[in-house]
Amino acid sequence: MFNPRKTIVRHVANPPDPGVIAEAAALLRRGGLVAFPTETVYGLGANALDETAVASIFTAKGRPPNNPVIVHVADAASARQLTTHWPDRAALLAEKFWPGSLTLILPKSPAIPNAVTAGNQTVGLRVPAHQIALALLRAAEIPIAAPSANRSTQISPTIASHVLRGLDGRIDLLLDAGPTPGGLESTVLDLTTNPPQILRPGLVTVDQLQAVIGKVAAPEHTISSATEALRSPGQLARHYAPTAKVLCLTNESAAENKSTIRNLLNTKKRIGWLRLPDSAIEFDADPTTINIIDMPPDAAAYSSHLYAALHELDHAGVDYIVVDLPPTGDAWLAVHDRLRRAASSD
Ligand code: TXA
Ligand code: MG
Repeated sequence: MFNPRKTIVRHVANPPDPGVIAEAAALLRRGGLVAFPTETVYGLGANALDETAVASIFTAKGRPPNNPVIVHVADAASARQLTTHWPDRAALLAEKFWPGSLTLILPKSPAIPNAVTAGNQTVGLRVPAHQIALALLRAAEIPIAAPSANRSTQISPTIASHVLRGLDGRIDLLLDAGPTPGGLESTVLDLTTNPPQILRPGLVTVDQLQAVIGKVAAPEHTISSATEALRSPGQLARHYAPTAKVLCLTNESAAENKSTIRNLLNTKKRIGWLRLPDSAIEFDADPTTINIIDMPPDAAAYSSHLYAALHELDHAGVDYIVVDLPPTGDAWLAVHDRLRRAASSD
């Protein structure tokens, strides 16, 4: 059962105050729950070698026990100790991308409790590229199991207040180091298959991976024409989703879009709009009734701002979030994946 906890918030500078890091490390070693920043999103950490501590992550998040969590380590040597097989591809990728936003799925060592891997014989490992996360890993001297620090199925947190919105009173400590720069979760790559399979597109792109290890299989649900995928969202699990309904619109269907939006406004729905500079969506309504967030046209900057924008519109209480669908292409794959999931009604 869920036990209420008093959540302490500590602001951490870069480089961090060693006293705050020591406090967080001690808490983790005692089985506590500590939310901390990574370069992607905030993570909800527990001692990966402590089955009870890991179980409390699932309780705090309301996460189904069949969804495994990623284990964070300080360096590739520590990752290697947690797997029974370290293939050449793992060595090449670790060398190139760690610390960084790439999670490698490898055969798990018996030291990893089943709660971490949801009973799978594999474990997801990554070295985060964030000074606070690395300082914590080094001070705690344990691997840290950490999913994103949000309630299950909700949007990942990129600032401390997002973490508190979902988890205040459910975790012991939150290290607040400001916004996480990447803004989307790591790429998850399964190295136990041939060719390796992308399970979740993320900040490290398919092209970047292929440049290092050759062919990798694209994520199963990612269709190159994202418009196509967005038109059949029913096949996809709702995840990374705001409370508001998300509608992704393309320039090609500008006329249709206009009438969709007019209908929403006529029924007094509150609308948020993630607008791109070249948007062909037109509102012939009072613009003050629409909560507009201007999104950058560059993939990295867009990724970095997407969750904060969705959180903001959700917080503002809009009924619908209209999104100008960004361009397709390798650099935009993760953004399309998250928008598709956010728009899914499952
Ligand atoms: O950027 C990130 O990856 C963030 C930060 C905190 O590191 N973490 C994160 O964790 O997004 P989470 O739990 O929200 O997502 C982990 C993803 C899930 O899709 C999970 O199913 C997959 O990784 N995963 C973890 N371990 C796995 C395993 N052994 N086999 C297959 N998939 C795994
Ligand atoms: Mg998550």
